[in-house]
Amino acid sequence: MSDETLSNLLKEDRRFEPPAEIAEHANLKEEAYERAASDRDAFWAEQAERLDWAEKWDRVLDWDDAPFAKWFVGGKLNASYNCVDRHVEAGRGDKVAIHWVGEPLDDTRDITYAQLKDEVSKAANALTELGVQTGDRVAIYLPMIPEAVVAMLACARIGAPHTVVFGGFSADALASRLDDCQAKVVITSDGGYRRGAPSALKPAVDEARTKTDVVEKVLVVRRTGQDVDWDDAVDVWWHDAVDNASAEHTPEAFDAEHPLYVMYTSGTTGKPKGILHTTGGYLVGTSYTHWAVFDLKPETDVYWCSADIGWVTGHSYMVYGPLANGATQVMYEGTPDAPERGRWWQIIQDYKVTIFYTAPTAIRSFMKQGREIPDRFDMSSLRILGSVGEPINPEAYVWYRHVIGGDRTPVVDTWWQTETGMIMISPLPGVTHGKPGSAMIPIPGISADVVTEEGTSVPHGSGGYLVLTEPWPSMLRTIWGDDERFKDTYWSKYAKEGWYFAGDGAKKDSDGDLWVLGRVDDVMNVSGHRLSTTEIESALVSHPKVAEAAVVGAKDEDTGQAVCAFVILREEAGDGGEDIVEELRNHVRKEIGAIAKPRQIMIVPELPKTRSGKIMRRLLRDVAEHREVGDVTTLADSTVMDLIKDKESSGG
Ligand code: WT7
Repeated sequence: MSDETLSNLLKEDRRFEPPAEIAEHANLKEEAYERAASDRDAFWAEQAERLDWAEKWDRVLDWDDAPFAKWFVGGKLNASYNCVDRHVEAGRGDKVAIHWVGEPLDDTRDITYAQLKDEVSKAANALTELGVQTGDRVAIYLPMIPEAVVAMLACARIGAPHTVVFGGFSADALASRLDDCQAKVVITSDGGYRRGAPSALKPAVDEARTKTDVVEKVLVVRRTGQDVDWDDAVDVWWHDAVDNASAEHTPEAFDAEHPLYVMYTSGTTGKPKGILHTTGGYLVGTSYTHWAVFDLKPETDVYWCSADIGWVTGHSYMVYGPLANGATQVMYEGTPDAPERGRWWQIIQDYKVTIFYTAPTAIRSFMKQGREIPDRFDMSSLRILGSVGEPINPEAYVWYRHVIGGDRTPVVDTWWQTETGMIMISPLPGVTHGKPGSAMIPIPGISADVVTEEGTSVPHGSGGYLVLTEPWPSMLRTIWGDDERFKDTYWSKYAKEGWYFAGDGAKKDSDGDLWVLGRVDDVMNVSGHRLSTTEIESALVSHPKVAEAAVVGAKDEDTGQAVCAFVILREEAGDGGEDIVEELRNHVRKEIGAIAKPRQIMIVPELPKTRSGKIMRRLLRDVAEHREVGDVTTLADSTVMDLIKDKESSGG
């Protein structure tokens, strides 16, 4: 972010007080900050009481082997029991857990907690029947259909860690994840609906299986009815295996530190990291934050998080948090513009949604379409709005509050990461006054700071690196199969202090409130999706015509950042041919997925490098963002930038 944007941000002085009604009945009040800080263990033990434990813990936190944490040591529980059975046992079996809305109009299903319990139990029995045992990994590659939630909870029920792979990832990306965590079973579907048309999924699983031989069985949900290739030795229909299974299943209690899931996310190297979350602490953290940050009143609220289940937001705030809390929620299969651009607002109106959680990139695209579309709907049921995934620009915040929330609704700008598992920095809707663009301060129980390179806390009005200074229950436990990378990535920069390095830059304003500014490493944020520059560079270099590639994230009005690539072709490829740019964009799509497709590719003769051979991405970002190119004195060859700029002005 440029200095100019920064100072504009810090001049933002609009303030929104919490509505009296929400303040008065707020789940969490001001005093919680003090209470949590004075005795952290006691505070987290109190939060852990939200869950049903088969055996209580004897120690809240074991940090003796830092950074390898153990939370609720000795405790035993079952995550699926906590998300489903206990609500049924408490007499709330008839309560709707999920109002599912398919993309085709009138394709809806309301699923009660009792029905969910039966479905999850059947799926758990079916997985066991397929040979899945406690500890085995199961991959889930599904669209936003109820079976995705059922599959996750069924895995949790039998203690088989799941790894959900976003349906937009390609066969190659899927294969590398299957391989990395050695997934024995994949749960997929024939396809899903996307913008009014069925879009196939199973072929990607078939193709992934040609690249790795770890998979023994593929369980296939029939969603669209489209044709699929079938391998009798491997493929099993969900409706055969699950529908015919028994609805009786006794959940086993697992150790609090039993692995719950692995979620892959991009880091600074080419290989995605498998972030490991475990059972007890993760469930405590997600249920506590879902209750506190959204001020959830499970009896009356209708909650909707628009995230896909393939991302951590879908895990923490569509599955584990809301279901552990016994909430009623909406789950929507499709895109916001199908069959027309008011679809989301129609859903809010139809289901009287009270809490809505989405991403700035979506808000910006609605802003662009104009307020006439949302204005056609009655959204007076909304009482709290949430934002996640990237910094929300003040204009988008104010529009969201004003046009969607009718100026009644607090906006909670929630900062967190795949690694943190739960919301860490956010306003509390009944306590904090809203400042457009600021995620404000860490929630009760969490300690964060903004520090210099040397680890000194920065004064108010200054910027630095965001760190988390105390462990928290839903923290990642390691990177799957790579403890060293776990230590290097998060715990080595401030090893002496024992702090977690988040990889984000942030600023403290004059009140001490935090403004998260974005990544300080080679990670990009495109529409709230995390992408690694190196991963896309590796994909480009794997193309036979490419010699070298450099990727930067350039500022983009719609998507926050956009992928811009600079590519040097191999000599034998000549000028690459007329369609070289499209060819390379499609190649990236094939290697990683459509979300990683570069917005722009420039074929260049050279890349700017330092004398030690490091690519100077800062200069490429200047070009991609159409700025005057900055200081080139550390370049090995200072004429390189002239060559690149010539290319740019000639439209290359
Ligand atoms: C990165 C984490 C958390 C679930 C979705 C993304 C950025 C996330 C905010 C926010 C400013 C934010 C950070 C972070 N980010 N939320 N409210 N304000 N930046 O999870 O893919 O793990 O990405 O997203 O840069 O490090 P993720």
